[in-house]
Amino acid sequence: MSAQIKIETTKHPKLKPDQKNLGFGKYFTDHMFIMDYSEGKSWHEPRIIPYQPLVLDPATSVLHYGQAIFEGMKAYLSTDGRMLLFRPRRNMERINRSDDRMCMPTIDVDFGVEAIKTLVKLDKDWIPTVVGTSLYIRPFVISTDPFLGVRASNTYKFIIILSPVGAYYPQGIAPVNIYVEPEYVRAVRGGTGFAKAAGNYAGGMKAQTIAAKKGYVQVLWLDGIERKYIEEVGAMNVFFKVKGEVITPDLSGSILPGVTRESVIFLLKHWGMKVSERKISIHELFEAYQKGELEEAFGTGTAAVISPIGELNWNEHRIVINNNKTGEVAHKLYDTLTGIQYGRFKDEFGWTVEIK
Ligand code: COI
Repeated sequence: MSAQIKIETTKHPKLKPDQKNLGFGKYFTDHMFIMDYSEGKSWHEPRIIPYQPLVLDPATSVLHYGQAIFEGMKAYLSTDGRMLLFRPRRNMERINRSDDRMCMPTIDVDFGVEAIKTLVKLDKDWIPTVVGTSLYIRPFVISTDPFLGVRASNTYKFIIILSPVGAYYPQGIAPVNIYVEPEYVRAVRGGTGFAKAAGNYAGGMKAQTIAAKKGYVQVLWLDGIERKYIEEVGAMNVFFKVKGEVITPDLSGSILPGVTRESVIFLLKHWGMKVSERKISIHELFEAYQKGELEEAFGTGTAAVISPIGELNWNEHRIVINNNKTGEVAHKLYDTLTGIQYGRFKDEFGWTVEIK
C-alpha cells in the first residue's frame, strides 16, 4: 500500500475544548483518516477528510455480527514542541493480529504509521499541552458488506480518529478500586481475548455496570474456565508486587498483549527487578495480602498509563493495598514512561517516533 493520502481540509474548524476538563474520549479533532478495502482491490483510496458521521446501510455486517477491531495510542507534545508517538509500530502490528483473528484484511504497518503521522500532523494544534493530557489516537477497522448472511465481509473500512484527552479515570492518577468479577468472564483460550476486538469490550459491560453500582471503577477478570487465575482489568493489564517480585499474568491467549505491559516488563528488567510472567490465582494473591506480602498493585495501558490499584474487592473481602496509596514501583514507572513519552527523558530504547 503505497498510494498517496489525499487530503481535504475542513472549512469549519471546531472550537477546541478546555484542556483542563478534557476527560477521556469526549472531543474529536477536525479531521479523520479513512480508506476502503474490497476483494480484488485490496486497501485503496486512503484519504483525510473533515471529521464527519459515517453513512452505513442498516444491513452493514459490523452492526449485526461485530466484525470490528480497534487500537489505542497517543501523540504527545514535548516541552520543546516535538510531536511524539510511542512505539506506533507495535500497535499497527497488533492491529494485524487482531485483524487476522477476526478474519479481516491486514494493513501494511509502515503505511498505517504514515497515515497516523499525516493525520496527527494536520491536527497538531489539537495536541493538548496541560500536564497529563495527550492526543488519543483511535484507529479501527469495521466490516461493511450490506449482507445478513454470517460470513466474513468482503469490504472493510480502516478509519483513524483523534481525541484530545486527560486521565482515563475520573480520579486521575490516584489509586483506583477494582471489583474482582466472580461470575462473568471476558475470554477463554481459543477465543478472541488476545485481539482488540470490539466485542470483547461489549461482553464486559454487564460486569462493569454491576461493579460500578457497587462503587468500583472497573472489574478484574478471572480466567474463563476455573474463575481462579487473574487475567486483566477492563481497560488495562495488571501487575502485582509480592515480596519484591513483580508478577503479571502470562499471555495465555485470552489476555491482551499490551504495548504498555511489554514496555513495563522491559523497564523493570532493565532496573534489575525480579519480574515474572506467570499464572497467579486470586487465592495466591489473597494469601499474600493476608500475610502482609502484597506490596503494590497497578494497571498498565495506553489510556490508563500506569494506574495504581488501591483496593480490590474479592467476594466481599476488601483487599486494601499499600494503604490505598501509589506505590514506589508504580510511581517510578509512571515517571519514567511519561518522561520518555513526553520527551522529558532521553529515550535510550528507541521507543519514541517523532512526527516531522
Ligand atoms: C487503550 O488503553 O488505548 C484502550 O484501548 C483501552 C480502553 C480505552 C478500551
